[in-house]
Amino acid sequence: MMVTELERGVLELCRFARDHYPQEQLERANMALKLDHCLRVFQEAESIAMEEKLEPDAVRVTLWAALFHDVGRFPQYLAYKTFDDRKSVDHGRLGVRVLKKHGFLEGLSAQTQKAVRTAIILHNKRFLSASLPEWAAVPARVVRDADKLDIYKILLQHLRPDAANNPVVTMDLRDEPEVYNEELVRQILDGELGDYSRMQTLNDFRLLLCSWVYDLNFSATKKAVIQRGYLDELLSGLPDTPRIRQVRKTVLARVREYATEPLN
Ligand SMILES: [Fe+2]
Repeated sequence: MMVTELERGVLELCRFARDHYPQEQLERANMALKLDHCLRVFQEAESIAMEEKLEPDAVRVTLWAALFHDVGRFPQYLAYKTFDDRKSVDHGRLGVRVLKKHGFLEGLSAQTQKAVRTAIILHNKRFLSASLPEWAAVPARVVRDADKLDIYKILLQHLRPDAANNPVVTMDLRDEPEVYNEELVRQILDGELGDYSRMQTLNDFRLLLCSWVYDLNFSATKKAVIQRGYLDELLSGLPDTPRIRQVRKTVLARVREYATEPLN
């Protein structure tokens, strides 16, 4: 029953996304990238939920939230031609409006719908409140981790030296191989998440992605980050300076330390 319902959700998401595809080829490609992202985050979330042995109710909420977490991206891109919330709208909130308007969650219990909407609203916020109730916190944490795993994959593809420049993905940041923001370095060394508004170059983006080690919730996610070599590849794109070597030591120690830690 759950699988059938979720399959319906997958089809509805795909149809909704394609209804928003523009004519222009690069714009279509950017939309397709987001649809692929939604479907991969759905799979990543399922893997995390299984590995962490979540309760069936939490799994159901998590999968629906993961599938639809970025549904707001399609109307956002159509209207503003950007995925940058600071220049357009909060795509988490917009996504919840889309879900309501199109009734994509109909058929789920009121509590499940509420938990799904909450996870979607929380997926793109800088921090999660420590006081969230478990029904909201667990799915939100899984979706945030699954989202990050796929963003690592996408960004690394676009940050490789032979990659075609796509400013929509790399957020118009400048490619200056020797330049990075010292404040982002300080934040990482102090154990803080990087501040988006500090980013000016692609190296700053690499640093920001490195700082996500402080915002990975599950050991399944940390293991995946290590095993897939995401941090190694990000760090190897940064210039070889004493400060960056400190960053490398700090972030690698952080994921390795917690990758084997049990959930509670
Ligand atoms: Fe998102």
